[in-house]
Amino acid sequence: MLDTQPIQVEKATESKISKVDFSNIQFGKIYSDHQFSISYDGENWIKPIINAYKPLQISPASPALHYGISIFEGLKAYKHEDGTVAVFRPDMNFERMNLSAKRMCMPQIPEDVYYNSLNALLDIDRQWVPVNPGTSLYIRPFLFSDDDFIGIRPSQRFKYMVITCPVGAYYSKPVRVKIETHFVRAVEGGSGYCKTGCNYGPAIYPARLAQEEGYDQLIWTDGKYHKYVEESGTMNLMFIIDGKLITAALGDTILNGITRDSVLTLAKDWGVEVEERKVEVAEVVDAIETGRMQEAFGAGTAATIAQIATIGYNGKDYDLPPVEGRDFSNRVLRMLDDIRYGRTEDKFGWLH
Ligand code: COI
Repeated sequence: MLDTQPIQVEKATESKISKVDFSNIQFGKIYSDHQFSISYDGENWIKPIINAYKPLQISPASPALHYGISIFEGLKAYKHEDGTVAVFRPDMNFERMNLSAKRMCMPQIPEDVYYNSLNALLDIDRQWVPVNPGTSLYIRPFLFSDDDFIGIRPSQRFKYMVITCPVGAYYSKPVRVKIETHFVRAVEGGSGYCKTGCNYGPAIYPARLAQEEGYDQLIWTDGKYHKYVEESGTMNLMFIIDGKLITAALGDTILNGITRDSVLTLAKDWGVEVEERKVEVAEVVDAIETGRMQEAFGAGTAATIAQIATIGYNGKDYDLPPVEGRDFSNRVLRMLDDIRYGRTEDKFGWLH
C-alpha cells in the first residue's frame, strides 16, 4: 500500500509542454508529461511509480484486450486565479470506480492509492492545468487486467494507472441527437451503470450510423421496448418540461453521473422541482410538439452541459427552443463554472 511504499518518481527528461498550443486544444489528443501506475499482484498493491507518459508493455493474452476487463473514470482539475489546482468531486469518481471494479471482478482501489496518486501526479504536472476560459485538465484513472491468461475467469493481476490531458470544449455547438429505436446501450442486469470499456465500444457503431444521417449523437432507449429514453451519447439526459427538471432515475442502465448529481443538487437548492423517473419517448415528443419542453441537454464530465438543439425520432426532426433563452441550463453551467474555477463559494464542498 502507498502508506508503506512511497511513490517512486522518475521525471520525464524533457517536457512536451512548450509544443502545445493551449489556445486550441482538442479533447483527448494531447497528454501531459507524466503517468502514474501501480500493480496488483493478486494480494497487494505494489510498485507505485510516476514516470514519463509512454506506451505500455502488456501481454498479448491480457483479458483487457480480449474480454474488456478494463474500467475507467473521468474527472477534471481546474486552475484558480490564485494558482490553486482544484479537482471537482473526486470522491464520487472513487466510489463509482470501485462499483465498476466489483461488477468486473476486479480488486477495490484503496483510498490512499487513489488520492495519493492524484495529488502526486497533479503536483508534478501542475503546469499542464490550462488557464484559458472553458479549459481544464481531464484526468483519466483506469484499471485493467494484467494477466497473461486467455481463459475466462476473474483476473488475478491488474494495473491501475492515471493519465491526464488538457482539454477544451467537448462539443463546439448545440447537438442534434436521434432517438435510437434498434440498438441498445444497456439492459436490466447488465453493466450500463459502470464505466467499463464494454459499454462504450459497442456504442460507437450505432452512433456512427446516426452521424451518417446527420446527427451528432444518439438518445439511448431501454433495451426491451425502446419505450423510455435513458442517456444521450456518453452523457445523462435531462429535460425541462413545464418548468420541472426531469431525468431518468438511476438503475442498472443509467450511469450515476457526477455532473448529473451536481445539476440535480443545484436544481433542488434553487427550488426547481426535480423528477427522477422513467421518461417515455412519447412524453418527450409530445412535450416538444405542444411547446412544453423548454430545454433538453446532456450532462457529463467531458461535455459538462451539452445543449440539445434537435431531437430526431422515426424520421422526423423536432427542434427545441433557442439555447440563448434556456434559463436553467445556462444558469447551471455558469454556477458549475463559478464553483470549479473558484469564483464563488464552494458551498457543497465539491472541490478537492
Ligand atoms: C466523461 O464524460 O468523462 C466520459 O466518460 C466521456 C468519455 C467517454 C469521453
